[in-house]
Amino acid sequence: MAKKPVAKSAASTHSKPSSINIGISEKDRAAIAAGLSKLLADTYTLYLTTHNFHWNVTGPMFNTLHTMFMAQYTELWNAVDPIAERIRSLGHVAPGSYAQFAQLSSLPDAPTQPPKALDMVRILVEGHEGVARTARSLFAAVDKASDEPSADLLTQRLTVHEQTAWMLRSLLED
Ligand SMILES: [Fe+2]
Repeated sequence: MAKKPVAKSAASTHSKPSSINIGISEKDRAAIAAGLSKLLADTYTLYLTTHNFHWNVTGPMFNTLHTMFMAQYTELWNAVDPIAERIRSLGHVAPGSYAQFAQLSSLPDAPTQPPKALDMVRILVEGHEGVARTARSLFAAVDKASDEPSADLLTQRLTVHEQTAWMLRSLLED
């Protein structure tokens, strides 16, 4: 008998995200959360690829790239948490499985066989550019809803991805 009200209130909390009243409509919150889920999947995929390359890089640039990739995967690892928690703040569930990330990500999975060092750099340039495109594509929905925290997060992520893409791209020049 005592269990019923507890179960009912827990169920209603989970089944009614519309009870959130932060000034963003349910439809806009859903659209932004769906976009942020893609950004989370892209970021996690790029994190894993960068860590993979930190482990498997070889050749005369080993020291430079091994160290550079560590700084980059650490930054990406730290970035996934605020993205996921923004999704939660909008009343939605954050994806967090390899199956979901594979389905949501616009980036390819890391190659099974380690590429040559400069091919790793090329793959990471394309990865950072891809995440930047995903982040940029969300601004229309975020601006429409006056979702400033999401806009701020997207701006920070764009700055990092565009700067990292430039630094990696510079390694490919003569
Ligand atoms: Fe390490």
